[in-house]
Amino acid sequence: MTYEFRGASLFDAVQQAVGCNAPAAELKKLNKARQKFNFAARARLGSALFVGEGNSSFALAVARLKGVTPSSILATAYEEEADLGDTAYDNAAKLLKLGARVKTGVDAPCLSKTIGQRRFRTIIFQFPNVASREALHGQNPNHVLVTRFLKNSRAHLKSGGLVVISTVDSPFYEGAFKMDDVAKKAGFAEPDIYTFNPKDYPAYSHQNTADEESAINEHTAFATFVFSA
Ligand SMILES: C[S@@+](CC[C@H](N)C(=O)[O-])C[C@H]1O[C@@H](n2cnc3c(N)ncnc32)[C@H](O)[C@@H]1O
Repeated sequence: MTYEFRGASLFDAVQQAVGCNAPAAELKKLNKARQKFNFAARARLGSALFVGEGNSSFALAVARLKGVTPSSILATAYEEEADLGDTAYDNAAKLLKLGARVKTGVDAPCLSKTIGQRRFRTIIFQFPNVASREALHGQNPNHVLVTRFLKNSRAHLKSGGLVVISTVDSPFYEGAFKMDDVAKKAGFAEPDIYTFNPKDYPAYSHQNTADEESAINEHTAFATFVFSA
C-alpha cells in the first residue's frame, strides 16, 4: 500500500487506511501526520537555530512561548542587515531585548561561514524558498537549497538533534521539495511528517521571498518535516 501526504485528503486517507486494515507502521505514520510538531517543547530543550527567518517573526513567536529561554535562540536571516525591512528590524530588536541573538547574512547551505562550528539541538527553517524558479542540475532550486542545507546542518547538530522544515502541503510543493529524496541525499532517515498551523503563532507574519505570493495566505494546508540524523 502506498502512502501519500496530500493535505485535504489526509483525513480520508487515514479513514481509508483504517478501513483497509493497513499495517500498523503505516497507520502510525498517517496518524502522526495529523499531529502538530511541538515547537515549544523542542525550544524548551534549548539551543535552537532559526535559519532563513526573513522578518524573524517566527523566531520571535517561539521565543515568547511559555517556558522557552530566549537566550537559547539564535535567529538568522539570509539577507544582509542593510537589506532588512522595517518589520525585520523591529522583530530583531524585540528578540535582542528578550535576550536572544540575531544574525544576518546567514546562508543555510554554508552555516559555518557565519556561525562558526556551533551545534544546536534544533535547527529550524520555516518555508524555505529561493527567489529563482530556474532548475539547478535538473532539479527544482528549492529541492537543491533544502538538500544542501540539510547536508550542511549535520555538522551543526548536537547528538539527538533535529532539523525541522515547514512547507505548504500540496502536490505541487511536494513535487518541488521531494523531502524523502532530500533526506536520502543528505544521509538522514526519512522525515517524520506533522501538520502545521501558522495561526497557532499569532505573532508570526510569514514573509515572502521577493515578488512572490504569500505561501501562507494562498494556501490552507502546511506540513512540518522533521529530520533526525
Ligand atoms: C518564504 S520566505 C520565509 C521566511 C520565513 N522563514 C518565514 O517563514 O516567514 C523564504 C526565506 O528563505 C530565505 N532563503 C532563501 N535562500 C536562502 C539561503 N540560501 N539561506 C538562508 N535562507 C534563504 C529567504 O531569504 C526568505 O526569507
